[in-house]
Order: sequence, then structure tokens, then C-alpha cells
Amino acid sequence: MSKLNDLSPYEQFLRDTFHADDAGLQRLQAEAEQEGLPAISIGPEQGKFLQVLVQLTGARKVLEIGTLGGYSGAWMARALPADGKLISLELEEKHAAFTRRQWAALGLNGKTEVRVGPALDSLPGLADEAPFDLIFIDADKNNYPAYLEWALRYSRSGTIILGDNVSMGGRLADPHQQQNEWIQGMRRFAERMAADERLVSTVVPYADGIAMGVVK
Ligand SMILES: C[S@@+](CC[C@H](N)C(=O)[O-])C[C@H]1O[C@@H](n2cnc3c(N)ncnc32)[C@H](O)[C@@H]1O
Repeated sequence: MSKLNDLSPYEQFLRDTFHADDAGLQRLQAEAEQEGLPAISIGPEQGKFLQVLVQLTGARKVLEIGTLGGYSGAWMARALPADGKLISLELEEKHAAFTRRQWAALGLNGKTEVRVGPALDSLPGLADEAPFDLIFIDADKNNYPAYLEWALRYSRSGTIILGDNVSMGGRLADPHQQQNEWIQGMRRFAERMAADERLVSTVVPYADGIAMGVVK
């Protein structure tokens, strides 16, 4: 969805210097491609950004909506303390099984868990785990407004809420794309992130744009 590998020389320098995948993350991405998972993970810049946020906030409990092959989750889980926990929600059993294998190979099994099913079915069962310190939304865009409501319910003052793909590959503000259900969902999400009085929000323009809000 984004120009993840269409980098200027400066962007390439930054990726190589600050954000490069290590051998474990390279293997995860290579095996995801071999096993036919869609190539729609975040990029290394966003992964490192999420990792810095987990570290910066001292997060112990992270919720992710949209696991895919565990790439973004691995970046975040690596910054969690030994007794920290990442819960990631994923629709597809194939993606979840792949992720569990990869997270085990990366030594992250003790602090990660994937729950399979439509996220809107899984979310009500997380009440006992809340509040989360950081919540990353990266799944079906039509449901982002509903995910935001759950994220706010499962937050405390200081929780960071993020949603990937605000730009929708440049289509968010395209007047010819406004009938698309995913564009409509992302627009409603972005507008709520910006206007909700419980949040202080911005958009970080890495790759396809990550909306980021802090709960007051
Ligand atoms: C963009 S990918 C996630 C990428 C991942 N966060 C990363 O960067 O490594 C979106 C994932 O959300 C999953 N998904 C789609 N609809 C879903 C739903 N209703 N509930 C849970 N997961 C869903 C897809 O199967 C896919 O694996």
C-alpha cells in the first residue's frame, strides 16, 4: 500500500543506519513471502518507531489489531520487559500459526499471544487484560472507527493509540475514492482521532502515515 522500498538515497541511508531489520526479522519477512502471506506489513521505519514508543513509555501491556506474520509485533515485543505482554488479534489461522512459529524462533513466546478470529469478536474478551499501555490498529480499515472505540475503552491516561495507513496509498482525500468502504472507515477514524476530546493526536508521516494519539 505504501512505497516501502522506493527510497531516495537519504531515506536509504536512514533505513540502513537506524532502522535495518536484523537477521531474525529478515528471516521472518523472507519466510512470509515464501509461504504466500500478503506483503502488507509495516516497514522497518515504522517498526522501529513503534519499538521506540514501547521503550519510551515503559509499556508493559500492548494490544495489536492485525498480526499478519508478526513483523510489527516482533518490533514491539522486543522492547517489552520480560514480564510484559503483547496480545495480537488476527482473523486468519494461517497468519496466526506462522506468527507463533516466528515469535518462538525470535525468543518472544513468553511475552506474546495471538488470538484468532474477527477482532470485533475477540475484543470484548480482553476486559480483564485492560488497560493497555499502547494499542496499534492495523487491520480491516472499515472497522477502524469501532476499533478506536474499543481502544479508548481499554486505555488509561497516557495510553498511546496508533492506526496505520491514514493516507490509504494517497486515496484518503481523493474525491473519486470516497464511495470506497475502507476509505470511508479510515476517514471516520482519522476525524475521530483528531476531534475526540479524550485524545491529543497527530499523524506521523512514515510510509502510509500512522495516526497517533495520547489519551489525556
Ligand atoms: C496489514 S496486515 C497487518 C500487518 C502487521 N501489523 C505487520 O505490520 O506486520 C492486516 C492483518 O489484519 C488481518 N485482519 C483483517 N481483517 C481482520 C479482522 N476483522 N479481525 C482481525 N484481523 C483482521 C489480516 O488477516 C491481516 O493479517
